[in-house]
Amino acid sequence: MIFAGSHILSVEQFVRADIERIFQVADSMEPYALRQRVTRVLEGAILGNMFFEPSTRTRVSFGCAFNLLGGEVRETTGFKSTAIAKGESLYDTARVLSGYSDVICMRHPESGSVAEFASASRVPVVNGGDGANEHPSQALLDLYTIQKEVKEKGGSMDHLRIAMIGDLKHGRTVHSLCKLLALFSNVEVVLVSPTELAMPEKYIESLRAAGHKVSVSNELTQSITQVDIVYSTRIQEERFASKEEADLYRGRFRLNQAIYTEFCQPNTVIMHPLPRDSRAEANELDNDLNQNPNLAIFRQADNGVLVRMALFALVLDVVDQVDACSRPVNWCHNRTFV
Ligand code: NCD
Repeated sequence: MIFAGSHILSVEQFVRADIERIFQVADSMEPYALRQRVTRVLEGAILGNMFFEPSTRTRVSFGCAFNLLGGEVRETTGFKSTAIAKGESLYDTARVLSGYSDVICMRHPESGSVAEFASASRVPVVNGGDGANEHPSQALLDLYTIQKEVKEKGGSMDHLRIAMIGDLKHGRTVHSLCKLLALFSNVEVVLVSPTELAMPEKYIESLRAAGHKVSVSNELTQSITQVDIVYSTRIQEERFASKEEADLYRGRFRLNQAIYTEFCQPNTVIMHPLPRDSRAEANELDNDLNQNPNLAIFRQADNGVLVRMALFALVLDVVDQVDACSRPVNWCHNRTFV
């Protein structure tokens, strides 16, 4: 695809070469993310960061990524603090805010809303999650993390075996990840969820159409014995009619160190888009995994900055100027990826 000036709304817009390009640019962002150098390549540019649903990582890492490229960030959070609460349409909001910004990141509770917003925007829009539909930047950082982790352990993306666990019906991260995995070969996917929260058929179809082996289960321990990646997810409470309904499913698939030791292979990488629900009744990834070197959840979150920097640099067409606009940092730093 041509990145310059494009919206990033769905992973469906990518072919494999696009993914490789994004990851190559993400790798080149390391000196900046590690604060070894600063670049001012986006000096004068403004990111409009509009989050109409709760967010920590996505919102802040989009903002940090833009700041690390030298740009500035203006932000709105929640409906109540915007004119949407006064009845303003997405169309008008997009027309106005795109006049203030050079690129916009947006999260919204309704599927398709970010695409609707983008169609009225005068600047590129990046989907930060639209309802249960898609979360393209998360899927990219997940895949980037999978590649890095698997490569470090001497494996490869071809013949990857991954178990996706939890609320697969409402989880937009796993929806986008399934579509991205469809660009690779020979992936084995185990989908573990309560029957009522199963992965929608269309995502299973996209995996099968790519020739991948897909199996479905509602039992955790036997599903994680032969996989390279365990990708756990939270019950998406906000997509249920009531908290009580979500409560029915919380805590069904808990992974802790004892279960990991007994059932997983010693190299199995543990991922989660975060937030993990650490309340006692949920606890899908126990804190006793925190010392497990294969727990990649925080490396995954760190990688989000690299991938989002890459998306901005590509969409605003500055990849070739990043290094020319850089210098060493002034302050003392000893940051590493952990
Ligand atoms: C995810 C999301 O918002 O879809 N979080 C994130 O962006 N990292 C997953 C979730 O909220 O469970």
